[in-house]
Amino acid sequence: MDQQQRARNRCQWLPALESLPGPRYKALVDQLAADMASGVLQPGQRLPPQRLLADALGVTVGTITRAYQEAERRGLVEARVGSGTRVKDLTEALPHFHHLTRAGHDSIDLSLSIPIPTPLRQQQLTVSLQQVSASPEAVNAALAYQPEQGCPTQREQLCQWLASQGLHFEPQELMLTEGGQHADFLALQTLVKPGEAVASAALTYPGMIAAARQLGLKHLPVGTDAEGIRPDMLERLCQQQRIRLLYLMPEYNNPTGHHMSEARRQAIVDVARRYDMLLLEDGVQFVTEDVRGTPLYRLAPERSLYIFSVSKLLAGGLRFGVLRAPMNLMPQLRVALRAQCWSSPSLMGAVTCQWLTSGDADRLLEWQWEEIRARQALLREILSPYEVSTHPCGFHAWLRLPESMRAADFVQLADARGVTLIAAEPFCVGSQPAPQAVRICITPPASREALAEGLTRIRALLDEEPLMSAPLL
Ligand SMILES: Cc1ncc(COP(=O)(O)O)c(C=O)c1O
Repeated sequence: MDQQQRARNRCQWLPALESLPGPRYKALVDQLAADMASGVLQPGQRLPPQRLLADALGVTVGTITRAYQEAERRGLVEARVGSGTRVKDLTEALPHFHHLTRAGHDSIDLSLSIPIPTPLRQQQLTVSLQQVSASPEAVNAALAYQPEQGCPTQREQLCQWLASQGLHFEPQELMLTEGGQHADFLALQTLVKPGEAVASAALTYPGMIAAARQLGLKHLPVGTDAEGIRPDMLERLCQQQRIRLLYLMPEYNNPTGHHMSEARRQAIVDVARRYDMLLLEDGVQFVTEDVRGTPLYRLAPERSLYIFSVSKLLAGGLRFGVLRAPMNLMPQLRVALRAQCWSSPSLMGAVTCQWLTSGDADRLLEWQWEEIRARQALLREILSPYEVSTHPCGFHAWLRLPESMRAADFVQLADARGVTLIAAEPFCVGSQPAPQAVRICITPPASREALAEGLTRIRALLDEEPLMSAPLL
């Protein structure tokens, strides 16, 4: 038996690199990600020692060292002196992808992007529940198994309501999902294989970062300017490696508030066409028609997926969303959704569609948009001297801190003054350093007065800037 065969026999994990393209070390990391996702490699499992794996694969030790380093950089493994390199447990989602407020009772929570609290919401949901329970047709739909794409009547009702908001779809191109996060995850899981690459703005929605990580995908950051993703930088990335899908929020990027012009959207579409890339447009941070640009699914219907959910409009607890996809991708998405949950619950769909189509939702939204406009004005006024970017319909704003301040310290100091904020860290893709910035959500306080109080405390901290710098030792 030759040395290579002996090494192969001793390796507990032996990646098959022959069929994978690109440099060997990258192929090894891609195979590692794929084996983690499929369960071939288990959390905590030790990878073979580097020399042994090099001998087994007939490559240099340097190649294996580089691969293990790259795997560590991508958060797939951890290396400890004395105990080798072990597979990480990716189910321990990002520690900072919390969805529930950490704010104490007395704290003013400006950390969550949620609908503005109002008793009207409870009243309207109660009415919708009553209306659904009084309708034999809706009750029967809720009792029956539905097709994977969701109840056809509900998809039609949703299309009608979305059309009234200027978003036009055909019911057959929609799949009902359990909220926007589910739609994001479903699209990634179905259309991108473990080890393949997705890209997004360097600062993006943490739920997307968590989903890509959970699925063992490479998630690459693209440089941005005031309009979000830069097409030239996207193109450069595409020249270096194959990007299967680009995730983006052209209306209003969470967290930076960047809004893409029409020219920028077209330039992104042009790159996507040149490099045959799918576009996943997240419209969960919904904006009104008067300030909305052309959605990408209208510019490039053949490669665009679009996500909508009612979480920011009606309530996050409804877990009701929708994924629009080109018809040729729908069979794959149907198979994936069936494997997950057969279909999303039609009772939630019935209640949501009743709420949307009764006219109640429109009254609630009119109130909410007016309230957001007033809150945006407060924000502009109170933080006027500072660098804040946001959107007229924005649930949040992005505050770049003055030079001498660090975001982690600022969040702590704000916490001590009874205001809860989030720093840039959870929004960062990959291992790039986080900018010194914080996200300020203007919707969680129950009143404008409470928001003004929270913003005034933030302003006071910013004005005290010189006091915050550490003394030189
Ligand atoms: C951009 C974006 N996408 C998706 C989601 C998740 O939406 P849902 O609550 O409907 O799952 C959020 C929630 O904050 C979001 O900001």
